[in-house]
Amino acid sequence: MWSLILFVAIGLFGSESFVKANCTIEAKGNLKFPKKFNFGVATSAYQIEGGWNADGKGPSIWDEFTHNYPERIIDGSNGDSAAESYRLFELDLQALKQLGAKHYRFSIAWTRIFPTGDVHLKNQKGIDYYNMVINKLRENKIEPMVTMYHWDLPVALQKFGGFANALIIDQFSDYAEELFKLFGDRVKTWITFNEPNNICKAGYGTGYAPPLIQAPGVGDYICFTNLLKAHGTTYRLYQKKFAKKQKGKIGITLDIFYLFSKTNNTDDVNRAMDYNLGLLAYPIFSKSGDFPPIVLKEIEKSSMEEGRAKSRLPSLGEYWTKIIKGSGDFIGINYYTSRYVKPATEPMGENPSMERDINIQMDVDPNWPRAKADWVYCIPQGLESLLKYLRDEYNNVEVKITENGWVDSGELNDDNRIRYFKSHIQAVLNAINDGCNVTSYSAWSLVDNFEWLQGYTEKFGLYSVNMKSTKKGRIPKKSALYYKKVIATRSVPVFEYLY
Ligand SMILES: *[C@@H]1O[C@H](CO)[C@@H](O)[C@H](O)[C@H]1NC(C)=O
Ligand SMILES: *[C@@H]1O[C@H](CO)[C@@H](O)[C@H](O)[C@H]1NC(C)=O
Repeated sequence: MWSLILFVAIGLFGSESFVKANCTIEAKGNLKFPKKFNFGVATSAYQIEGGWNADGKGPSIWDEFTHNYPERIIDGSNGDSAAESYRLFELDLQALKQLGAKHYRFSIAWTRIFPTGDVHLKNQKGIDYYNMVINKLRENKIEPMVTMYHWDLPVALQKFGGFANALIIDQFSDYAEELFKLFGDRVKTWITFNEPNNICKAGYGTGYAPPLIQAPGVGDYICFTNLLKAHGTTYRLYQKKFAKKQKGKIGITLDIFYLFSKTNNTDDVNRAMDYNLGLLAYPIFSKSGDFPPIVLKEIEKSSMEEGRAKSRLPSLGEYWTKIIKGSGDFIGINYYTSRYVKPATEPMGENPSMERDINIQMDVDPNWPRAKADWVYCIPQGLESLLKYLRDEYNNVEVKITENGWVDSGELNDDNRIRYFKSHIQAVLNAINDGCNVTSYSAWSLVDNFEWLQGYTEKFGLYSVNMKSTKKGRIPKKSALYYKKVIATRSVPVFEYLY
């Protein structure tokens, strides 16, 4: 009997590191989400609003980039009109109501309110727009969850260097202060930055995305450092001037692949997680603060070998460590997929680069179900494991899943999206049943939208939008009906339920 139990226990342990290839996950524990758990959907300004220069809005780095380099967007498109949520918010509201969403995560376009980024020059029409959005959501008992920065820096601020210049600390926190003053009486959940990994690696490292700065292994680390300082400063400002009266929560949204080891090597996984998640999560949410010790040590060593006088990623130092440590009421997680990791056998990437610093090879299992995008595979076990990792390594910090979703060509009969949502929402429930402190889930995304470099060729929406029509009606996909059922029952309905 004992040996049998032991055998089963080892079997289960083993199966956690070798991931199933069929987009399913077993239910464990309670079948209902806790009463307070909050389901909603997410979008971002540049991807849906359109009206890129309407009513006094200034240009952002994404407006400038898509206009100057249409050839870098797969279909030559841009977000000039997108789903036109600036003109047609009422349609989004109808969709949110139809879903029964309890919250709506959207982002504010900095340049709609402050066309040059400078908080002394306000654009009242932009302020009116977000007041309208927030008020209508609240009238319908949908809680606004606001992302302050979702990649659309004012062009006027990029001229100063954007996240490569420490000026961004004040530029961003001044902007944030205005948002607290304007909307903080009604907005109680704030996210400073969406996906710093993308902002910094793609924007200042590889240079694939605006502002197109190619400085791998240098620019990306400068960006991370300034962004963390801007985040910490904003958090302290809110605590000092607004928290008592407004009683809101402030977090940051990090994008993360969960990482598995085929050989069950936890050291490989932990090291890879320290680079991929820890670089941003550790300074804010760990007990000691600053960048993860192993990351600081390794990059300093490489920097010395390169003949530099100091590390490409210096410690945040005592002053900033204190400001940044603890500067998050919750951690926002954008989870889409996972990878296998193992140490690289040869130096990876160029010298220097983050790739070279990390020097980990990432693999997929060719049997994993793949989405239209080449980077998304359906791995619900990764989400459950990630939530447990956060529980164990980050003191059971409050977690909000701020994005999770599936990408296809836009079919209305989107069974694969339903499969993805079903298994991932089950993964969240399993994690909660196992003591993880997860309080909300935002499906990405409400409507089909501008998918950055992929333009309109890849769709994530629960609602379809015909980008060529002027009416831009929102048409529910099959998955919208499924998600509506999830929200109404606070459970994970069987797939066949609707049909
Ligand atoms: C994986 O590693 C864990 C922790 O070191 C160990 O308990 C478990 O038995 C290992 N599983 C396999 C299949 O090697
Ligand atoms: C969950 O997070 C909240 C906010 O940080 C905290 O107050 C609470 O103690 C956490 N719950 C558990 C069970 O750790």
